[in-house]
Amino acid sequence: MLAAIVTSKFQGIPRDLINMETFWMHSIGCGIAARRIAKHVPGVEAEKVYLGGMLHDIGSLIFFKESPETAKKILMCCKETGENLFKVEKEVLGYDHAEVGALLLTEWKLSDKLVEMIKYHHQPGSAGDCMEETCIIALVDAMVYEMKIGISGEPGVPELDPRVWEMIPISDEEMKTLQEEITAQVDDTVRMFF
Ligand SMILES: [Fe+2]
Ligand SMILES: [Fe+2]
Repeated sequence: MLAAIVTSKFQGIPRDLINMETFWMHSIGCGIAARRIAKHVPGVEAEKVYLGGMLHDIGSLIFFKESPETAKKILMCCKETGENLFKVEKEVLGYDHAEVGALLLTEWKLSDKLVEMIKYHHQPGSAGDCMEETCIIALVDAMVYEMKIGISGEPGVPELDPRVWEMIPISDEEMKTLQEEITAQVDDTVRMFF
């Protein structure tokens, strides 16, 4: 439902810029993975990080819709250099999709925690009160790219702040099981969406 509402708001994004289905695959994958990982981190609300995962890259949709030509240049530059999207956006525009997404969620009057999660998802070390939640979003962003579930415009697996592993204590074994569960759940959910 949420994806449907948001998608209708962002209709008309050129398909050669981003394929919305793969964009939502990435978002759904991150939402599901974040909710599952939340079980390993005491005090984190699973539904809140689910929403954080679903919406973390929403700022990119604003770029794609409002400035498709600039967005294209930024995506090309990422492809050529292998640099993370937010870094190229900062260089070209002076701000990035994480900050723009946070502004949009503030406008939508979503909770401060959610706004912070989105704002710092590429720099979780800078998150204040909701460091754990933001680390979860950063982790699943990289994980879902590694699992090749959808694409949101990054040229590869986003760089992960090593501090994330200190905040989220998950063993390699648990991670493997978790990835199998996530793949199955994403397949089910994506069938419902598309
Ligand atoms: Fe992002
Ligand atoms: Fe992402």
